[in-house]
Amino acid sequence: MKLLVCGGAGFIGSNFVRLRLLEHGNAVTVLDKLTYAGREENLEDVAGLPGFRFVRGGIEDADAVAEAIAGADAVVNFAAETHVDRSIAEPDAFIRTHAMGTFVLLEAARERGVRYVQVSTDEVYGSIDEGSFTESSRLAPSSPYSATKAGADLLVSSYHHTYGLEALICRGSNNYGPFQYPEKLIPLMVLNALHGDPLPVYGDGRQVRNWIYVEDFARGIGHVLEHGAPGEAYNVGGPDEAANIDVVRRIIELTGASPDLIEYVADRPGHDRRYSLGSEKARALGWAPRVRFDEGLERTVAWYRDNPAWWEPIRSGDYRAYYERQYGRALGGRLETPD
Ligand SMILES: NC(=O)c1ccc[n+]([C@@H]2O[C@H](COP(=O)([O-])OP(=O)(O)OC[C@H]3O[C@@H](n4cnc5c(N)ncnc54)[C@H](O)[C@@H]3O)[C@@H](O)[C@H]2O)c1
Repeated sequence: MKLLVCGGAGFIGSNFVRLRLLEHGNAVTVLDKLTYAGREENLEDVAGLPGFRFVRGGIEDADAVAEAIAGADAVVNFAAETHVDRSIAEPDAFIRTHAMGTFVLLEAARERGVRYVQVSTDEVYGSIDEGSFTESSRLAPSSPYSATKAGADLLVSSYHHTYGLEALICRGSNNYGPFQYPEKLIPLMVLNALHGDPLPVYGDGRQVRNWIYVEDFARGIGHVLEHGAPGEAYNVGGPDEAANIDVVRRIIELTGASPDLIEYVADRPGHDRRYSLGSEKARALGWAPRVRFDEGLERTVAWYRDNPAWWEPIRSGDYRAYYERQYGRALGGRLETPD
């Protein structure tokens, strides 16, 4: 199978590309705009493999899409702006990529009659106090990020309904694992803990998330691509839920940092309280998550500890200015090396 993977230089996309090249022998073209979150370094170890091709460009750019999609049997779209905080501060790029970008890609897939998988998120369902969302739950997004992702999902469904495009949607819960940009909760806390920087916890820290190890999500997307029914959406959630503050406490244990680093900061506006996904439909396709949260978190902490060459350029670059704007304080710079 020849895949076009959009956004394949980001966190989940690069893990997916690695899996498809190494475990499935697929040929893969990556189309990626290389925003602040996309890095060719994420694909360094597989870029030399036969069948791999990289095209730099935006999914909203029809010429770049036409070049990248040539010869593909299927499109998997990860390309997105993904940080809720940034969507609150500057929503423009979210609207451009999720609305225009998804439209341009859908048109290209329709013209060529190729299968299309849209990678989406549990955040489109909004917050739930008890129980779990299923694929037939109402979409009730609450941030510019989740609203534009929900809009893209609806457009994808319409292309199946109206034009008969073989389009599917795969909604994941909160991912964590190697190659995640450090603005997100787990890598942010791991790197701050390793550097002895304060650990900024939003509000009371009791926001609950359903955590999925990135390889489990990547496998779930592959399963939906190969076995899913066109026109359907599939939830792909992790095996465990945890409150943010408990995740932070666990990271403190794993890194040996001081609990005194925890610093409660003003909550994110409109912060969703709990996300929870029921994934029975994806499980019925034969997929199941393999990695429990405790094990995945241990692996993730070890990966960040062992790969400073990956995060040092990020932590010493534009990310510093972002961090200062977001948390009103500068990042430290000293890595506390354990004995
Ligand atoms: N991270 C999570 O917890 C999570 C959970 C569920 C679903 N998702 C979804 O999975 C997908 C990937 O998320 P991620 O965490 O890997 O994100 P990421 O921010 O790490 O990567 C996004 C990638 O998309 C690229 N990109 C952005 N705009 C683009 C454009 N206009 N054209 C081409 N490329 C563009 C970036 O350069 C980057 O490589 C997103 O669609 C996201 O909504 C993420």
